[in-house]
Amino acid sequence: MNELLELKNVSIEFESNSGFFRKKRNVKAVSNVNLEVKAGEILAVVGESGCGKTTIGKMITGIYKPTSGQVLFDGKDIWNLSKREYYEYRKSVQMVHQDSYAALNPARTIFQSLSAPLLHHKLAKNVEEARRKLEELFMLVGLTPSEQFLDKYPHQLSGGQRQRILLARAISVRPRLIVADEPVSMVDVSLRISLLDLMADMNKKFNIAFIYITHDLATARYIASNGRIAVMYLGKIVEVGNLEQILSRPRHPYLQALLSAVPIPNPRVARNAKPLPLKSPDMPDPANPPAGCRFNPRCPYAEERCTQKEPVLNELDGEMVACHMIERIPDWKWETAIGIQK
Ligand SMILES: Nc1ncnc2c1ncn2[C@@H]1O[C@H](COP(=O)(O)OP(=O)(O)O)[C@@H](O)[C@H]1O
Ligand SMILES: [Mg+2]
Repeated sequence: MNELLELKNVSIEFESNSGFFRKKRNVKAVSNVNLEVKAGEILAVVGESGCGKTTIGKMITGIYKPTSGQVLFDGKDIWNLSKREYYEYRKSVQMVHQDSYAALNPARTIFQSLSAPLLHHKLAKNVEEARRKLEELFMLVGLTPSEQFLDKYPHQLSGGQRQRILLARAISVRPRLIVADEPVSMVDVSLRISLLDLMADMNKKFNIAFIYITHDLATARYIASNGRIAVMYLGKIVEVGNLEQILSRPRHPYLQALLSAVPIPNPRVARNAKPLPLKSPDMPDPANPPAGCRFNPRCPYAEERCTQKEPVLNELDGEMVACHMIERIPDWKWETAIGIQK
């Protein structure tokens, strides 16, 4: 067992008063999730907006503390580490946020922002050494000439450049895991591939594990084609395992529905593709999730027990699926290969 990071039955509840009548409600954003990441692997976490992806990322990086369950790093509970272990964990697990502008201090130059962690973690003895190291790193991540970036302020750079800088900042402290939360969703489409390639490159070169969080199956497949995928619905994982296996033969009705909603560029294939008829298009209220299987009000295969008992993840052909009806769901063929055009 060489799990780098493990979520053990984690749940988190938020108190929210954003409802129509500003009534206090509890939102169980993540519910009994088990997940592990091995050293050097790429795991894609996929699901629609609001299903709890960012919350999982923030629990992994120690920003949110789970209401119950544990986050283990190198087998140890991150909320119960010695000072030295905590310091090591904070360095080893980095997060790249979706909004690159919000993630950088607007009043500081890129050099000021990025030299601070190097000095803090004693990866550079002084400012001059930090400068040299960052110049080297910027070359590596394609930010050249580096002086064009180091002395700029965040607002002087494009979204794609800032995202590259965030990645450089994460890599600079030699982490073992990077949680990348929708890192390309605010970036120009034309720049997405090169950012994904950069992450894949860093994964190979430095054996950094990545958790790639996205709502977009195409980019997930692009970056995690040799890795795993975890599909989330309303705070739960419904299917997890080898990405290629799962996307070529999706088992959970929710994933089948998600895949049938991906637009297909080839009209011949599109004509033959059968959309999965959902009973309802709407996502239920996360503050009041349906009893039993959370997908049951929308699921075309749901039966009575799906409304009563919550399914757990069970092994099936080497992957894990949480569905009571799994034996009876017809094999769902879809004849396209989602992916991105280079
Ligand atoms: N800090 C918070 N306070 C209250 N509710 C939150 C907070 N963060 C997330 N939520 C709620 O938790 C659920 C999951 O959110 P999030 O993890 O951001 O989803 P995703 O990243 O998949 O879009 C949503 O219903 C969201 O409104
Ligand atoms: Mg999010």
